[in-house]
Amino acid sequence: MAFDPLQQRGIPLDEQLRDWRELNVTPIDPDHADPYTRCRIITMNGIETEAILFSHQLARHCPDLELKQQLARVRFVEAQQQKAVNWLLPGTSSVLETTIAYEQVAVDLTAWVARMEPDSYLKQAYQFGVLEDFDHLYRYANLYEMIEHRKAEKIVDGLTEVMPGRPTYLHHRDPLDNVRQPYDRSVTEPLSRLHALTVMAAEQQTMNFYMNVGPACMEPIARQLYQEIAMVEEEHVTHYESLVDPGESWWEMLLNHEYNECYLYYSFMETESDPKVKNIWELHLNMELEHLRLAADLFRRFDGREPDQVLAPALPPPVTFEPNKAYIRELLATQIDCTTLGTGYVKEAHERFTRMQEAVMNGEKPASERVIDDNRAISGREYRLETEGPHPAGLQLSS
Ligand SMILES: [Fe+2]
Ligand SMILES: [Fe+2]
Ligand SMILES: [Fe+2]
Ligand SMILES: [Fe+2]
Repeated sequence: MAFDPLQQRGIPLDEQLRDWRELNVTPIDPDHADPYTRCRIITMNGIETEAILFSHQLARHCPDLELKQQLARVRFVEAQQQKAVNWLLPGTSSVLETTIAYEQVAVDLTAWVARMEPDSYLKQAYQFGVLEDFDHLYRYANLYEMIEHRKAEKIVDGLTEVMPGRPTYLHHRDPLDNVRQPYDRSVTEPLSRLHALTVMAAEQQTMNFYMNVGPACMEPIARQLYQEIAMVEEEHVTHYESLVDPGESWWEMLLNHEYNECYLYYSFMETESDPKVKNIWELHLNMELEHLRLAADLFRRFDGREPDQVLAPALPPPVTFEPNKAYIRELLATQIDCTTLGTGYVKEAHERFTRMQEAVMNGEKPASERVIDDNRAISGREYRLETEGPHPAGLQLSS
């Protein structure tokens, strides 16, 4: 039976508050947990962080005291949800291990979204971006082997391959070329709105994470690599956020945010392998149903429209973490040499791109290249995890 969040009853807002004891969740086992459980945790942390930040922005533009108070009450719950979710991550993982998990999220979440996206222009945007985070995973995996003397296969567990994508140094584009055309809110499929919000939120938290943890590293190559990739994540946030139609009203945006939270908690509840974590997804879904009801009321009141004019009649198929190896390999074989020009894509290095490259590189190799050279020198070869055969774009492992 199709699940329609607009028809479901959630937990009344007054009953959503949790005490410290309830927020003190037991973290997942760092060695034996399903890597995709960790991916779901990281995704939901990004979604809750976006819920909080969006609500703050809305409050800052809201002159009505009573409305601001209601936003503050819901936001407090979102903030508690974020704590419960992110504190599922174990304190024993190093920052670099969590980083590798973040890039695994970016790869397998974006690849799933690209596969499911009905609009060809939006699909292209996800296909373009996923090859870059795929390359970040490879750069960080080499850093990990070099400085922590461990292998990334312990983290990604063979579910995601590790090998070069579009090389990171080629991600440094002129900001002008990172802005895409938005979808048109009057004709777009409801699923497309949800996809754009999800990937935008995931990239935003990755950007925030790197910009904050990067300077906490001691090794110069680690500091430099985080700095370089943090700049790319800024580009990715610009790329994905520009897909969202800026003509949506604040109340429509709020409605989409709450609906997307329902969609993702429902998805993860349906696909979760860890029963304790599944309970959290279910509890949070029941909270979100009430947030959605409140947002729907505001949407009716201020936009004078019915929520089902913009939302889907039922939830789309669940967002699923699963291997996307064949899909990524196909993209590597066909799109590795793409870049952007204006709001479109090209295969040749144009003048504005070359100028940007020269400005940031200034004739020297960036950290994303040096980390591979350095690891080759120390470990005798670079780190890769090619479970399905040699690199599909001919970037062979050199000996
Ligand atoms: Fe939430
Ligand atoms: Fe990335
Ligand atoms: Fe990214
Ligand atoms: Fe919410």
